[in-house]
Amino acid sequence: MASLSFTLAMATTPSSSPFFSKPANQRQLIKTHAKQTHRFQMSCNVPSDDHEKPVDRRNLLLGLGGLYSAVNLTGLPSAFADPITTPSFNPNCRDAGTGFDVKKGLLRTTACCPPESKKGPEKQFEFPKHDEIRIRYPIHCAPEGYMNKFKEAMRLMRALPDDDPRSFKNQAKIHCAYCNGSYTQMATGSQQELLIHFNWLFFPFHRWYLYFFERILGELIGDPTFGLPYWSWDEREGMKIPPTFREGGESNPLYDIYRNNIRNYEAIVDLDFNGKDREDTTDDYQIKINQHAMYRQMMRNAFDTKSFFGGKYVAGNTPIDAKDSSVASIEAGCHTAIHRWVRDPGSPNGEDMGNFYSAGYDPLFYVHHSNVDRMWALWKEMGESNRDPIHPDWLNASYVFYDEKQNPVRVYNKQCVDMEKLKYKYHGPEIPSWVNSRPKPKCSASERSQIDITSATKDVKNRTLTNVDTFVLVRPETARTRTVDESEIEVLTLNNISFNGNKAVKFDVLVNACNIDTNKFTPADSEYAGSFATVPHNHDMKISTTFRFPLRELLKDIGAEGNTAIQVTIVTQEKETENISIGEIKIEDYSLAEISKASLPTGLQGAGANVGVDDLTE
Ligand code: C2O
Repeated sequence: MASLSFTLAMATTPSSSPFFSKPANQRQLIKTHAKQTHRFQMSCNVPSDDHEKPVDRRNLLLGLGGLYSAVNLTGLPSAFADPITTPSFNPNCRDAGTGFDVKKGLLRTTACCPPESKKGPEKQFEFPKHDEIRIRYPIHCAPEGYMNKFKEAMRLMRALPDDDPRSFKNQAKIHCAYCNGSYTQMATGSQQELLIHFNWLFFPFHRWYLYFFERILGELIGDPTFGLPYWSWDEREGMKIPPTFREGGESNPLYDIYRNNIRNYEAIVDLDFNGKDREDTTDDYQIKINQHAMYRQMMRNAFDTKSFFGGKYVAGNTPIDAKDSSVASIEAGCHTAIHRWVRDPGSPNGEDMGNFYSAGYDPLFYVHHSNVDRMWALWKEMGESNRDPIHPDWLNASYVFYDEKQNPVRVYNKQCVDMEKLKYKYHGPEIPSWVNSRPKPKCSASERSQIDITSATKDVKNRTLTNVDTFVLVRPETARTRTVDESEIEVLTLNNISFNGNKAVKFDVLVNACNIDTNKFTPADSEYAGSFATVPHNHDMKISTTFRFPLRELLKDIGAEGNTAIQVTIVTQEKETENISIGEIKIEDYSLAEISKASLPTGLQGAGANVGVDDLTE
């Protein structure tokens, strides 16, 4: 059944869509469509008619609906039913206890639990029945009047009383409750803390959070078609903090006092921000860096489901040390960069945006995450192997939110994968401009030939970082000898990256960086494999996670496909590097088809066969 519906879905895929071209081969996609990009960049001309066609062509492709119905998820044996389950709020929520330094003083409260329900116990979610689609517009080219509507809705939300779960304060606290230890996994029988960052819950949790936020805003202005704006920091025209968020200062409902208000609002965001403003850079150069960062996080380094979504996190896992957990490329990249870039540099704990406990207090948070959520939608369009996780523990993970009528509603990941059913969509360029921003090598061939890779670094376990650390790693035989096989994936994995969670952390990983000052490499260079960055989270607690860097395209670009070994350099600008260590650095070679099958619970392996890329646990 599953395979039948999938095949049918594939067969009906319109061939006119550029993103339906051979997905694994992104180079081809770029080549074929380079000429069209110009046209799409101009799609900022927003049509006057708000009501676009409800059919989203992507959903024709996905066919996952077939999978859900073929496998009765609720009837799965309990042996593999360990989805993270948020307890009903009351009385199972407690004050936030992690993620900030109380000694330094707090600008926001730690009493982050939602008010008690006036509408009885939690209800199950029902999909909206209306036909209208809420359209989310990019702020920099929104239709007339649209941002004023948003402002007005935000003003009304701020005016709601504290016992109303829809009030802005209560909405802001949702993030704190889920990210700073207000909930445990008690509903699953585990006392571990519940955490929705650093793992595969990142995209779905935030999608639900915004979904209800948007419905509440719409309700407040009496417009059920209202769609949340998005801050399109990935497109050249959207790379500044939108001025509407500052104009008029404190009387503006979109303003936040704990924001980097000293910064010139004309500045271009740095999607590779490491805590310090870049020196001597021009706007054009910063834009270029940003576009390459987007390319890397959405394409090169989001090659498989696990790299894009983050790794497995199920009931019983400790939030800070889940063994299969890893961070999503977008989460650790531009998502975190924006949080840090926007925060008030003078605040004790990075308030507001630079700390999870306070981030929800800045209205920019919602439009920032609206764009993060859009990345999920775009990624799925960018290739047929770009699929949502299908592991039951992902599908059945659930959270509880208040809806626009103050009803507590339980929602599941599996209910949020289809935006068409949730009745919202993004208006914007069908093909983002950064699909053409494939980085170029910085080192010349002769510079490269000087790199000494003759002896592998002996001990790559439990290394504490200094500011620049270099390792030589041998590549798996299979990876370097095969002829191009799109179903194989070679990944550089940094396991057990651990650091003090109440500090922001960023480090960059370079491959075969020839003898050039390591600080000179940026996302514009092929040698820059990617960066790992986090927003402070756990107070005085070591966080431990994994980050993955798919290597195939990088090695090809620097002409190292046939090399037996590579040189890996880790660079950080952080001052207290003794806080950061890496458990193990290794290169792994996978066959996508195999992990796809092997990682699924036995009852689902038949279904997995037609899925290609899976949830990817080992
Ligand atoms: Cu829950 Cu941008 O973080």
